[in-house]
Amino acid sequence: MAEDCILETSGLVKEFRGFVAVNDVNLKVRRGHIHALIGPNGAGKTTCFNLLTKFLEPTRGQIRFNGIDITREAPQKIARRGIVRSFQISAVFPHLTVLENVRIALQRKLGTSFHFWKSDRGLNQLNDRAMELLTAVDLAGYADMVTVEMPYGRKRALEIATTLALDPELMLLDEPTQGMGHEDVHRVMELIKQVSANRTILMVEHNMKVVAGISDTLTVLARGSVLAEGPYAEVAANPLVIEAYMGTEASGLASIPANDDRPPGPLPGEGDDHGSLRSNSGGAG
Ligand SMILES: Nc1ncnc2c1ncn2[C@@H]1O[C@H](COP(=O)(O)OP(=O)(O)O)[C@@H](O)[C@H]1O
Ligand SMILES: [Mg+2]
Repeated sequence: MAEDCILETSGLVKEFRGFVAVNDVNLKVRRGHIHALIGPNGAGKTTCFNLLTKFLEPTRGQIRFNGIDITREAPQKIARRGIVRSFQISAVFPHLTVLENVRIALQRKLGTSFHFWKSDRGLNQLNDRAMELLTAVDLAGYADMVTVEMPYGRKRALEIATTLALDPELMLLDEPTQGMGHEDVHRVMELIKQVSANRTILMVEHNMKVVAGISDTLTVLARGSVLAEGPYAEVAANPLVIEAYMGTEASGLASIPANDDRPPGPLPGEGDDHGSLRSNSGGAG
């Protein structure tokens, strides 16, 4: 029903000079879910994200957040409504410490009520909250490190902390595990699962272990259109999905199990290991 649906698009279209990058997308993101957007390279995932966060204006169609039409609202307005995208909005300052970065994000959230953090008491509260957030993403030990010196995977955890500082109702993550080694992938995956409590997450993710492991629902895009939608096991068995992935060139496929120990290959795997599209993730959490 409508009240279970935090974000909904209807007939969403984005054309670039006649080229249809997003084609009549009807997306329903359920409140409290981890919803993954997947698809071969060029499918329109990033464009879709850019439409949802208003980095791009749709050519046609409608976007509703909590039942409110936000299609023509400005990016800042949408952020204030509780839609926050990791990266752009919470980009970290490399030469400040880890703690300072989280504090700045918290100050941004407090915004106009700056008197709060001008007082000593306010500042202490800010520091306490910043440390809480760092602890939540397992970065307490890095608090005083200059951000640029942190390992890559930890920087992504910091980005998640600065996004959390804004207390988003809907958190958008664009490839949160991109470029990470095995251990970092695992940590960030656990982290996403953990921070998904009391909020909704929509993420573009290439790593099928991550998708299988933590998403409640998947939407598969191909050539701008929705090819399939549903829980992992169902989507993985869909012949259209299998074909869409097999039909892409090797370079496209290579990015999918990039962080996997298995060789690149068609997604729908044969066996029962966690990297396989068929693995049973155990459903909603
Ligand atoms: N600003 C743009 N101008 C023209 N074409 C674009 C633009 N952005 C994306 N496209 C095209 O739209 C399609 C979808 O791109 P994108 O959303 O980046 O796909 P994905 O993120 O799924 O890989 C691609 O064919 C891409 O070349
Ligand atoms: Mg992309």
